[in-house]
Amino acid sequence: MNLDLHGQNVAIIGGGNGIGLAIAEEFYREGCHVALIDLDPATPETAEKVRQQSGTTETDSPRCEGWVTDITDESATHSTFQAIHHEWGDLRHVVIAAGIGSGRFGFPFWNMKPEDWRRVLDVNIMGVVHVAHACHAILQQKDFGSLTLLASVAGQIGSQTDPPYSAAKAAVINFGQCMAKDLAPFGIRVNTICPGMVQTQLNRSVWQAWNDQQPDSEKRSYEDWAGEKVSNVVPLQRWQTPQDIANLAVFLASSRGQNITGQTMNVDGGFVMHW
Ligand SMILES: NC(=O)c1ccc[n+]([C@@H]2O[C@H](COP(=O)([O-])OP(=O)(O)OC[C@H]3O[C@@H](n4cnc5c(N)ncnc54)[C@H](O)[C@@H]3O)[C@@H](O)[C@H]2O)c1
Repeated sequence: MNLDLHGQNVAIIGGGNGIGLAIAEEFYREGCHVALIDLDPATPETAEKVRQQSGTTETDSPRCEGWVTDITDESATHSTFQAIHHEWGDLRHVVIAAGIGSGRFGFPFWNMKPEDWRRVLDVNIMGVVHVAHACHAILQQKDFGSLTLLASVAGQIGSQTDPPYSAAKAAVINFGQCMAKDLAPFGIRVNTICPGMVQTQLNRSVWQAWNDQQPDSEKRSYEDWAGEKVSNVVPLQRWQTPQDIANLAVFLASSRGQNITGQTMNVDGGFVMHW
């Protein structure tokens, strides 16, 4: 399928690891110039690896560069987008994949303190707000483009595992719908992808928080804990992969998705079915 993305500039926030990195690699394979924005200090080296692994020759390689930025810092986020705009010109697609869990097991919610919510909300919703403010005017300079958000099935089902995480992801879904309406007159489509269970550092940290508070007799390996969860709650009985999410992210940005905006799409093996 020709996705017709070749040569377009894309920024992936949270592109340094996990799902964001898989999304960045997929855009790069489509011939996009990819800016990785991430808190991780290794992000410039990660960008270099994306370039090396692609198999493209030096002369026809698209650009892939890393910017180290914490999206909870409004001013730093704004400066990073201004720098990318200044150096690369227009930006056609932005994907916000950065996210964190609280690192605590929140069931029931009073196991956590209100203080445990702050950093999760700062990153998962205020970070998205900062990125949206930093990039909307740049995206509006052409009459087409896309903004894709990463939320979670946890934002749709009141998942008890990590209440601040679930609440922040519900807010992301809602803010995505607001932005879809605001940006539609400019030809910019906004959609939200909700992964189910993907083996990444973030997913592992959920197990770690659970395991840490179990008595020794109840402790389980990550593989056992997560494997049982997948077989209990995922009708297709399998993990989702970073590549599964990347496939949809690239499709949504492409002209093949030109009539899709304001949607929340689950890549979750059937975990959540609305009726
Ligand atoms: N893994 C899953 O099972 C799962 C399920 C549902 C939703 N998600 C969502 O998918 C997205 C990607 O998660 P992942 O599993 O790849 O996690 P991950 O931990 O592997 O990657 C997250 C990336 O975000 C970056 N990041 C964190 N805080 C940041 C900040 N303040 N500023 C800039 N970058 C920051 C991290 O450095 C990291 O590179 C997240 O939004 C997450 O909530 C993941």
